[in-house]
Amino acid sequence: MKAARLLLQCRAGFEKECAQEITAAAAAMGVEGFVKAKPDSGFAVFQAHQDDMGAELGRNLEFRRLVFARQMVRVGELLTDLPESDRVTPIVAAARALGKAYQALWIEMPDTNDGKALATLTRPLLPHLEKALRKAGVAIDDSAAGERLHVFFVGGRACYVGVADPANSARSPMGIVRLRMPAAAPSRSAVKLAEALQEFFDDAERTRRFAPGMTAVDLGASPGGWTWQLVQRHMLVTAVDNGAMDAALMDSGQVKHRRDDGFHYQPPEPVDWMVCDMVESPSRIARLAARWIAQGWCAGTIFNLKLPMKKRWEELVRCREIVDEALGGGGYYLRVKQLSHDREEVTAYLARR
Ligand SMILES: C[S@@+](CC[C@H](N)C(=O)[O-])C[C@H]1O[C@@H](n2cnc3c(N)ncnc32)[C@H](O)[C@@H]1O
Repeated sequence: MKAARLLLQCRAGFEKECAQEITAAAAAMGVEGFVKAKPDSGFAVFQAHQDDMGAELGRNLEFRRLVFARQMVRVGELLTDLPESDRVTPIVAAARALGKAYQALWIEMPDTNDGKALATLTRPLLPHLEKALRKAGVAIDDSAAGERLHVFFVGGRACYVGVADPANSARSPMGIVRLRMPAAAPSRSAVKLAEALQEFFDDAERTRRFAPGMTAVDLGASPGGWTWQLVQRHMLVTAVDNGAMDAALMDSGQVKHRRDDGFHYQPPEPVDWMVCDMVESPSRIARLAARWIAQGWCAGTIFNLKLPMKKRWEELVRCREIVDEALGGGGYYLRVKQLSHDREEVTAYLARR
């Protein structure tokens, strides 16, 4: 068996965007193929017209460049009709055909209600599978191995078996980042910014770039979840919103509240960060964020783009074009990701190079 297909997990309802994105990314690398993606299934599978090209694509495509894919695994063909009495044997055979040593074994499933129901099956299966793999001479805790082994269940009797490079795939199973909602945070949005900081920066970079005494403007800040995250990092924040800010957060003494329009506010002097969670049309927000960078009002910005119900992919492409035009066609760094805490939106990070 060859791992010639690319399995991409995504938020349920975003399979079409995931398919459009992988098709465009593959075409840009000279690979033609087709995508199988059922609406609301929570995943898409790209198959190149030539298997060799598909395997090559899986190795060279940068996972972090993909917006809608939460996880990326190179898989073989779908294993179907797994016997209910022994699902393990066919999975072990498929795993063995792909390699003999892996860093880890992850069992995954779609992030849907049907997928969640599969956990009752996969949880007891895991120890049996681990034992059978070891018995078959397949290592699943070899730190020197280059890849991780993945088993992705799409139903009680069907799964994909595949491999992923831990440095070029999600850092947690199913790409879901588990973060506890801090009791003191003024809104649930707080966890979104926390996930964005994890997604876009490694530990050292995060500590350096969100350091005590640094300054930020939060556009659309009320009630203050994002501001709260920055205050936790001992930063000084100007919160711009006509709505009220959380009283305890204001008591920190690190926040100035400006009742102003986020599209008109200009900082009296440059700040380190502008963050923006205003619910507005994506192209307007993209233009605003690019303007802050172009004018040198902030060194970097993190913003949400609330995607429309239709033509989300086209809208995202348009937002990228807006940024590119505003910043003269280069010299900037832009990453966009649909975080696991994002719903209809995606989160972007933009800075000068
Ligand atoms: C999703 S909420 C922000 C939640 C906030 N990030 C948090 O963590 O608590 C969006 C906010 O944007 C504000 N907003 C929308 N349009 C705005 C504008 N033009 N100027 C300033 N604030 C705006 C709304 O008042 C609302 O409070």
